[in-house]
Amino acid sequence: MRDTPQGYAALIREKCPFVPEAAIILGSGLGELGEQIENAVAVDYGTLPGFPVSTAPGHKGRFLLGTLGGKAVVCMQGRLHYYEGHSMADVILPVRVMRMLGAKTLIATNAAGGINTSFSVGDIMLIEDHINFMGKNPLVGANDETLGCRFPDMSFAYAPELRALAERCAGEIGTQLCKGVYLACSGPSYETPAEIRAFRTLGADAVGMSTVPEIIAANHCGMRVLAFSLISNMAAGILRQPLTEEEVLEAGRQKGVEMQRLIVEILRNL
Ligand code: HPA
Repeated sequence: MRDTPQGYAALIREKCPFVPEAAIILGSGLGELGEQIENAVAVDYGTLPGFPVSTAPGHKGRFLLGTLGGKAVVCMQGRLHYYEGHSMADVILPVRVMRMLGAKTLIATNAAGGINTSFSVGDIMLIEDHINFMGKNPLVGANDETLGCRFPDMSFAYAPELRALAERCAGEIGTQLCKGVYLACSGPSYETPAEIRAFRTLGADAVGMSTVPEIIAANHCGMRVLAFSLISNMAAGILRQPLTEEEVLEAGRQKGVEMQRLIVEILRNL
């Protein structure tokens, strides 16, 4: 019980008896939104016995519970990536914990490379659908029927009503949104130009190394999901220049504020 989603939720509840309505995952370079949470209580992943800890740059590795946009939220300031060596079960564990705390809606963010050549660095892409190219599904293994069913439907993985809300909110605050399909690779190497050409043919608009396992897990346990990619760089081969981790973090610093405003506006209207 101790190292189950239910067990970790019980431990967190001891520190902070608080029922969040929404869960938020802050991606690479987007952790700043956490600082806006009112009356925040922080629970470091490292203080939960046996809980996996994130090592990726720009990821703090803690839950923050508090109020944002007038809503009770639990936020992951730092996610766990498959490329860090975590098992898929560990990658999705925090999502399940947030569900067990009571969150019914998940808003996920990430930094991604733009595959669609009409995109520019700094664009915010509303994820309409995804392609799982990680070679793994996080639900492989015994199914926990208390969480969800064996074969969860993914037809509406990104809730249409939340996407409509996001578009309305973006319009209200004057934020330009683009829309598209997110393709997830395992990483940690970036893609080759040939892979990016292939992914474009497959229908992908952006590429990254996260989010898809968490979205699958969230759908499995009955959460409504909304997700955004901050286009931090154009994907390999498009600009004929090497990709760097620094540009990914820099895009977060520059355009993260706009993404934060959008998420707060969406929470207000949830
Ligand atoms: N590829 C994969 N992951 C990424 C990228 C990219 O170009 N940019 C940010 N995360």
